[in-house]
Amino acid sequence: MGRAWFLNLLLFLGLLGSCVHGLGVNWGTMATHQLPPKTVVQMLKDNGISKVKLFDADSRTMNALAGSGIEVMAAIPNKELEAMNSYDKAKEWVKRNVTRYNFSGGVNIKYVAVGNEPFLKAYNGSYLNTTFPALQNIQNALNDAGLGDSVKATVPSNADVYFSPDNNPYPSFGRFRTDIADQMTQIVEFLAKNKAPFTVNIYPFLSLYGNDDFPFNYAFFDGGTPIVDSGTGIQYTNVFDANFDTLVSALKAVGHGDTPILVGEVGWPTDGDKNANAGNAYRFYNGLLPRLAANKGTPLRPGYIEVYLFGLLDEDAKSIDPGDFERHWGIFRYDGQPKFTMDLSGQGQNKMLVGARDVKYLPNKWCMFNPNAKDVSKLADNIGFACSNGDCTSLGYGSSCNSLDANGNASYAFNMYYQIKNQDDLACGFQGLATVTTQNISQGECNFIIQLSPKFALSPSGFSSPSLSPSLVGLLLVMLLTFMIL
Ligand SMILES: *[C@@H]1O[C@H](CO)[C@@H](O)[C@H](O)[C@H]1NC(C)=O
Ligand SMILES: *[C@@H]1O[C@H](CO)[C@@H](O)[C@H](O)[C@H]1NC(C)=O
Ligand SMILES: *[C@@H]1O[C@H](CO)[C@@H](O)[C@H](O)[C@H]1NC(C)=O
Ligand SMILES: *[C@@H]1O[C@H](CO)[C@@H](O)[C@H](O)[C@H]1NC(C)=O
Ligand SMILES: *[C@@H]1O[C@H](CO)[C@@H](O)[C@H](O)[C@H]1NC(C)=O
Ligand SMILES: *[C@@H]1O[C@H](CO)[C@@H](O)[C@H](O)[C@H]1NC(C)=O
Repeated sequence: MGRAWFLNLLLFLGLLGSCVHGLGVNWGTMATHQLPPKTVVQMLKDNGISKVKLFDADSRTMNALAGSGIEVMAAIPNKELEAMNSYDKAKEWVKRNVTRYNFSGGVNIKYVAVGNEPFLKAYNGSYLNTTFPALQNIQNALNDAGLGDSVKATVPSNADVYFSPDNNPYPSFGRFRTDIADQMTQIVEFLAKNKAPFTVNIYPFLSLYGNDDFPFNYAFFDGGTPIVDSGTGIQYTNVFDANFDTLVSALKAVGHGDTPILVGEVGWPTDGDKNANAGNAYRFYNGLLPRLAANKGTPLRPGYIEVYLFGLLDEDAKSIDPGDFERHWGIFRYDGQPKFTMDLSGQGQNKMLVGARDVKYLPNKWCMFNPNAKDVSKLADNIGFACSNGDCTSLGYGSSCNSLDANGNASYAFNMYYQIKNQDDLACGFQGLATVTTQNISQGECNFIIQLSPKFALSPSGFSSPSLSPSLVGLLLVMLLTFMIL
């Protein structure tokens, strides 16, 4: 009896805030009003998330992660790749952004992402010549700093670096893209030599996006009609497995079929497209997470897969070149509140995740279309202005605010601009077409948001004034934490 009670307690404690073993999330910061890094780290802890992938090595983020034990993939943005072709600069990067945090109570850095999808076709080969030298320099600098065993450099790649031919469109025929085959082969050989993983981003949502012929259910993990690989006879019922195994085959074809593969990004957006909504996101994660928890793997690679969900938070300043959905990938909203139920432990006990704590908002004030406006001839221009500076991605076809009437559209656009401008009175003018209201003008599914208070939020790094010696603050924090533990 006593023993069973004890075991149950252990089981309970184990489940509390636990996560699929090794599950990570992407923490992007392209938002006009960012949650403070400390708040985000607390969210990670509250939800049992033990790994994060970053898109830079911002010291504010790193200092907040210090002492948390959370495993970190720090990153070098594409625009820095060329600089990293100099070994001295790569050494300096490693010293400033990795070695600096390697102390007890520092940051648990496991990987350095060299670039972000640098071979994406949309980049027209801009990073073709600089990616591999940057990877070599960074890993060599890590090795020279004595960190090579614990920190691995890798290149997060878009799934368009490999393909299977039109006449054999099956995973077992997977090869690296012809125009980058040389670079990919060199990269794979270098990763193997350094026991570093290949990182790939896989997006079933994008298979569906803009391709109405794509079998809808095949984007999820339930109900896909099996497709038989003519090379192996293996049945595939979802595009994630098929895509992953295409990479396994491409690696095998260059003689490195056993390279560890890490899924750097996978997820589902909740707005900005007809297939981007909380229901589909729920369905996607409700299929993905239990498979990860069960270490199901894929037909060609059964077992554990290291995975980073994309992403943690919505980012209202992301480029929408790929589509309006880009700003809505978060499993949490812009303010750190959950959007739908899920179970990160993969046990199917779906419930709302723990949101960000003590979030401070601007007052309950909205900017709306002034129904008494006399001259509406400039309305379209003003909506255009609001939408080119604010985020109107929820207004489009199939999105959460698409059923607003014309006045509702105008109000939505005006409010998004007004909130981005921290409710500055001057930002709710629009040539007399707008007025401020204290009534919540949200309609149905369409939420007219209130932004985070600028006193609480972090502004984007480009606009921030330099903080007081962040390394010193980090060190003090660490000393304080150490003291508290002792
Ligand atoms: C370290 O990372 C930061 C943030 O990504 C970057 O701005 C900085 O240039 C890096 N330091 C060096 C010495 O390269
Ligand atoms: C790539 O080329 C296309 C077409 O020429 C152009 O529209 C686009 O801006 C280019 N992108 C980059 C990143 O250079
Ligand atoms: C990369 O190198 C090739 C061969 O030297 C050259 O033709 C090409 O213009 C280079 N690309 C860029 C983006 O610099
Ligand atoms: C620092 O780096 C060494 C060498 O790779 C590693 O073994 C150690 O765990 C790191 N220490 C900390 C506190 O991160
Ligand atoms: C509202 O705006 C969206 C996006 O610009 C547009 O598709 C829709 O037709 C507009 N609705 C009305 C009633 O004007
Ligand atoms: C406004 O109303 C919407 C829908 O009823 C609700 O979800 C939202 O939380 C409200 N906003 C505020 C700031 O109260």
